[in-house]
Amino acid sequence: MQHGVKKAVFPVAGYGTRFLPATKASPKEMLSLVDKPLIQYVVEEAVESGIDELVMVTGRHKRAIEDHFDIAFELEEDLKAKGKHDLLSEIQRIAEMATICYVRQKLALGLGHAVLTAKRVVNHEPFAVLLGDDIIRSDVPALKQMMDVHDRYSATVLAIQEVPRSQTGQYGIIDADKVAEGVYRLKDVVEKPPPDEAPSTLAIIGRYIFTPEIFTALEQTSPGKGGEIQLTDGIKRLSEDQPVYAYAFQGKRYDAGDKLGFLEATVEFGLRNEELGEQFREYLKRLTL
Ligand code: UTP
Repeated sequence: MQHGVKKAVFPVAGYGTRFLPATKASPKEMLSLVDKPLIQYVVEEAVESGIDELVMVTGRHKRAIEDHFDIAFELEEDLKAKGKHDLLSEIQRIAEMATICYVRQKLALGLGHAVLTAKRVVNHEPFAVLLGDDIIRSDVPALKQMMDVHDRYSATVLAIQEVPRSQTGQYGIIDADKVAEGVYRLKDVVEKPPPDEAPSTLAIIGRYIFTPEIFTALEQTSPGKGGEIQLTDGIKRLSEDQPVYAYAFQGKRYDAGDKLGFLEATVEFGLRNEELGEQFREYLKRLTL
């Protein structure tokens, strides 16, 4: 079946302050889990979900991301000359994977503002947003699962996950009615509530499918915390005009934009790696500190 969602937006213009000093001169999205940068995991998730037009919202110091998805002429010639054909085809595959268009967010005025920056490129159609901070391991790509929900309801769909009540202060938390297995209809959303004020323990994760009306909602949203235009505020406004759904996807999510989450992801992806997993497991078993 042909999905209605064809475009995906990747906001990658943030400063990544939680990961300083690693992110002083190179993008957080280029941090590598085993041997692939975070951004490649999310781009692959979108491509495997059937998305064919990718839009990256970039900023200064983000050139490495553009180079990563481009042809690397000298490197390819060098690998060819050395007969390293497996590496060559892997490198070429990355450049061929998708057509990516880049728009600049000139000032990092928040995630909501970054999404709004993509308006001219997205136009009047539903689109996905994926954040490189959230890496999801699943049998069916998480975005594909959400696209199926979008096909059913023709509405905005947010990815959600149950989190411990002690952690509600790190997320956008929804108040919602369950309408089907794993599907909720949004009543309200609260940004980073303390545990005793959180309306639930269902947290919004970095995958979204939006109807184009989110742009109008964001345009009407004034800057909130820290002078930034918050995506959560835009979602709240959108939900006042049209139904918004949340979907508890099947899969495990890693908070790779956070140092501890990144270390956890590194260990698990290392252990699952075909080439290195067994040796890495042995190494960890021997490890005594
Ligand atoms: P984060 O909240 O993780 O912000 O943004 P950040 O600045 O990257 O990281 P910290 O919190 O300071 O450590 C979530 C996503 O939104 C993008 C980021 O690149 C990240 O992928 N973003 C954020 C933008 O593109 N523009 C912005 O103005 C803010």
